Amino acid sequence: MIVLGIETTCDETAAAVVERGQHGQGLILSNVVFSQIEEHAAFGGVVPEIAARAHVEILDLLIAQAMREANRNFSDLDAVAAAAGPGLIGGLIVGLTTAKAIALVHEKPLIAVNHLEAHALTARLTHDTPFPYCLFLASGGHTQIVAVLGVGDYVRLGGTRDDAIGEAFDKTAKVLGLGYPGGPEVERSAARGDPTRFTLPRPMIGRKDADFSLSGLKTALRLEAEKHAPLSERDVYDLCAAFQQSVIAMVIDRLRAGLRMFDERFGPPMALVAAGGVAANQAIRGLLNQVAMEADTALVLPPAELCTDNGAMIAWAGAERLAQGLIDTLESGPHARWPLEQVTKADKFSSHASRA
Ligand code: KG4
Ligand code: ZN
Repeated sequence: MIVLGIETTCDETAAAVVERGQHGQGLILSNVVFSQIEEHAAFGGVVPEIAARAHVEILDLLIAQAMREANRNFSDLDAVAAAAGPGLIGGLIVGLTTAKAIALVHEKPLIAVNHLEAHALTARLTHDTPFPYCLFLASGGHTQIVAVLGVGDYVRLGGTRDDAIGEAFDKTAKVLGLGYPGGPEVERSAARGDPTRFTLPRPMIGRKDADFSLSGLKTALRLEAEKHAPLSERDVYDLCAAFQQSVIAMVIDRLRAGLRMFDERFGPPMALVAAGGVAANQAIRGLLNQVAMEADTALVLPPAELCTDNGAMIAWAGAERLAQGLIDTLESGPHARWPLEQVTKADKFSSHASRA
């Protein structure tokens, strides 16, 4: 089963071709990502209109490149998948419309993929991870702990009450005058800093639920930075180290709570799986190892380039859904908001859908 995947939910334009074998094994035939970082850097964050225009300009070329690198024609495809949400609406329209055009012209089924589901299923592309597993999804827009029970079968165990973790990294970088995107910059600075010099709050720790909250930590960091302005290089390093340390303490505690909830409701998970850009952080990868060992479960960490946004995960989610007969109609629309629990499983089955 060969699927083309298109990703345009945020500031990465991506296209990939992925194959799903008879026994469910995944193979990436091509995976092309164009990051718009430079176009947004001057604004310190993603500007939706700039993102949408950049997607329009480059997507056709990226798809052509992905097909060429995979050494396949459109006629070789079994389906065309595009991320249909959640995300910035302009980008979603670009990706989904392009996918529909290819599906229509080449008479292939269309699969409108939920971007979060794609992050959730990446562990099966890279590691053949069996269901059920516990997913820690942490990106610029999302922070969730999810029980992944099957394709289209997700139960949210916890999530953030305000900012996403990646967003907090980005805002910290902005306050401290570091570049965008902030995650890698803060991580680099933190590695040089002393985490004990500043005391920042460690929210949510010890609670029974598995929720996150970042806004108090973010405010405390800003106040501390203002108090010490103008900041020396050393101040920036130490503030980053303190911030990252607080995030780590919170993530460890929240994951322990999430894994406990998982075990109570569904029995022991087959693995703890990480996804989303924040999972590219080495310190966070280290803590995940510790938490998985304590819980006596396997840790599955897809390579960093498959944790951040990419087309392969969309193609793979498309292939997993196609294998279940879950295809969508050409009337499917984009959804700026689309919670994971609202992703469908069997009831969306429709054999005539692609040519409706
Ligand atoms: O999954 P992703 O590529 O895009 C979405 O948000 O969907 O994640 C990007 C987010 C950004 O907020 C970025 O700052 C954060 O992931 N990030 C990191 C690191 N690399 C990327 N956060 C902490 N440490 C990193 N090394
Ligand atoms: Zn993402």
